[in-house]
Amino acid sequence: MDWGIKNRLSRIMNPQDRKGVMLAVDHGYFLGPTERLEDPKKTIEPLLKYADSLMLTRGILRTCVDPESNIPIVLRVSGGTSILGEDLSKETITTSIEDAIRINASCMALSIFVGSKYEHQTLNNLSKLVDEGEKYGIPVLAVTAVGKDMARDARYLALSCRVAAELGAHLVKTYYCENFEKVVDACPVPVIIAGGKKLPEKEALSLTFNAIRDGASGVDMGRNIWQSDRPVEMIQAVRSIVHDRLTVEQSINSFFLTKSITSNELETLNTR
Ligand code: 5RP
Repeated sequence: MDWGIKNRLSRIMNPQDRKGVMLAVDHGYFLGPTERLEDPKKTIEPLLKYADSLMLTRGILRTCVDPESNIPIVLRVSGGTSILGEDLSKETITTSIEDAIRINASCMALSIFVGSKYEHQTLNNLSKLVDEGEKYGIPVLAVTAVGKDMARDARYLALSCRVAAELGAHLVKTYYCENFEKVVDACPVPVIIAGGKKLPEKEALSLTFNAIRDGASGVDMGRNIWQSDRPVEMIQAVRSIVHDRLTVEQSINSFFLTKSITSNELETLNTR
């Protein structure tokens, strides 16, 4: 692997433990002002120091993140359709490699929609982006999604991750599922997991713990962090599971129960 690609990857995946906590705030590229991400600057700022990297579009980067901040950037470079559009899978490459270089991106992220109407187009996007990335030493994160009617199970997720890796992705994002180790074992590059829709905090931490236990190299997590009522504690707890191998209980004890917490808050945390 090219020195530049390895060097950039080492900025987003800690070389000591080969794990990473990627804070995802790119949701607006097709969802618009998602709940608790209406003012991205306000959402991002208190979380930044606990993230290993930040995943977002160039528009939010330029307007909401201090260029002097040292956070490694995972630049989302695919899109072109919104939640109101014809089909979410109809994506194209939306940002040039020159802009990714100007931004000093540590990685470029692009979605592939395996089993969808526009599967071919999105796989073609990935191949082209990998060619561009290889030219300039910028790794590519393939964000895998499966078709609307396909189950998010090990069979389809393994297929999507493997296709992404075969086309040259350097890192793959998928969802946690039963038999997740089969997904990881069949993918020759590191696999990280998305958090998905907001869950009760304890469930999201269990998801993180199980994924790491079963071979994930980290998380690319958004809503389960910044839609929490305690986002700073949540990202610290996620981080402690990914990097310090804390259990779910230990992470809750360390970050949620150390400060005074009302019994109502605790109840919410354990049951939501
Ligand atoms: C949206 C994305 C998100 O960045 C990714 O799904 C992680 O966010 P969340 O944890 O909220 O699912 O790629 O397309």
